[in-house]
Amino acid sequence: MSKNLEFELKNQIPELYKSAIKISEQTAEELHCNIYLIGGIVRDLILNNTIKDIDIAVQADAVMFAKRLEKKYGCKILKIQENLRTASVEFKSGCVIDFASTREELYKAPGMLPVAHNFGCDLKSDVQRRDFTINTLAISLNGAEKYNLIDFYNGYDDIKNKKIRILHNNSFIDDPSRIVRALKFMVRLNFSIEENTIKLLNEYLSNPCRNIPIERIKNEFLQYFSIKKDNTFDIALDFGVFKLLSDNPPLTVNIKVLDNLKLFNLFDDDEINEILLLCLLLNSDYNSLSLTSQEKKILIEVKELLNNAEHSFSDDFKIYKLFNKKLNKSLIIYYLITKDENLIKYLNKLKNITVEINGNDLIELGYKPSGYFTVVFDEILKEKIKGNITTKQEEINFAKFIKEKRNI
Ligand code: CTP
Repeated sequence: MSKNLEFELKNQIPELYKSAIKISEQTAEELHCNIYLIGGIVRDLILNNTIKDIDIAVQADAVMFAKRLEKKYGCKILKIQENLRTASVEFKSGCVIDFASTREELYKAPGMLPVAHNFGCDLKSDVQRRDFTINTLAISLNGAEKYNLIDFYNGYDDIKNKKIRILHNNSFIDDPSRIVRALKFMVRLNFSIEENTIKLLNEYLSNPCRNIPIERIKNEFLQYFSIKKDNTFDIALDFGVFKLLSDNPPLTVNIKVLDNLKLFNLFDDDEINEILLLCLLLNSDYNSLSLTSQEKKILIEVKELLNNAEHSFSDDFKIYKLFNKKLNKSLIIYYLITKDENLIKYLNKLKNITVEINGNDLIELGYKPSGYFTVVFDEILKEKIKGNITTKQEEINFAKFIKEKRNI
């Protein structure tokens, strides 16, 4: 007998969404089409987890459905994706629901974006395109099956047994970003990955296809690393998922030491995912990956820091020069890898030391413009770091002294 989830819906759906779902049910009746709550929301209802967002599958054209909601119920269409026939709709209560036409997907080449077709297909054909059994569950919102759970792949049992299982053996070849998704659900939900799925995941990672766009993989890593747990990076390392992007294993990082940097306001919490992704890429051949110029710059800077650090430990001026003008994210990644206390010293004590005089001041003192200016500024900086000079006047006096001593 099929399970009825009316109780869960009444008790777990946030109030804001309840009227929106009612209106959607009514619209489905008016348009004589079937609609279903689908994917993450059903999984989270069964797990009694907080409901974050709601997806509804429309067994018809979801764009037409959204337009009806707009016209008859004063909803606002926020976004339409014509090629996928999906629409994001804001209801008067303020909540947003994503409506997607049921569809099939065809992977013409491994790792490439699938081609969507057969819009408005039956639900079984729609769920076939999905990643894991736990994401294939649907709840009917109208007709004779109203509020019944529809479970083509035993997803309910997998949720109860906390198992992540792919639907078919080609799943990771079709879409390798699902490997990161498997980890994401494993860590986020505290599930384990089922045996055959692990086997196929390892098979793929032993011979990954690199000739594919990395955008989706990158995005999944960003979602994965936004899970606020200390072990996401270690798990990524243990599973070898870096192989999706690189042959070389990354350096190990210690996320816990991030707390030591909190004081210095170098990052926002929502940037940690990007920082960890870059840690993962540090040893990769990142020139062949489509990274932004900012991302590449950070990786180059971290390598510079790692290469030059040991030569700079001896004195504060060298420490200053090493860390000065580096991007915050470069400093953070360097620290996660090395836990170098010199960085803390720099941030605490050295960072705010600057030379106040400029080129014009040197010209007024009789210097001729040249590359020698930087030497003078560095000499002044050294004295400031030692604490021998503090005021601007002292800087001027010292510049005068250098000029006389060196007879410039
Ligand atoms: N999906 C997939 N393969 C992907 C991405 C998504 O099969 N590479 C399917 C999944 O079945 C998923 C659905 O598309 O249920 C919607 O994707 P998304 O919104 O990313 O998944 P959710 O399950 O809602 O995950 P989250 O809880 O992180 O929002």
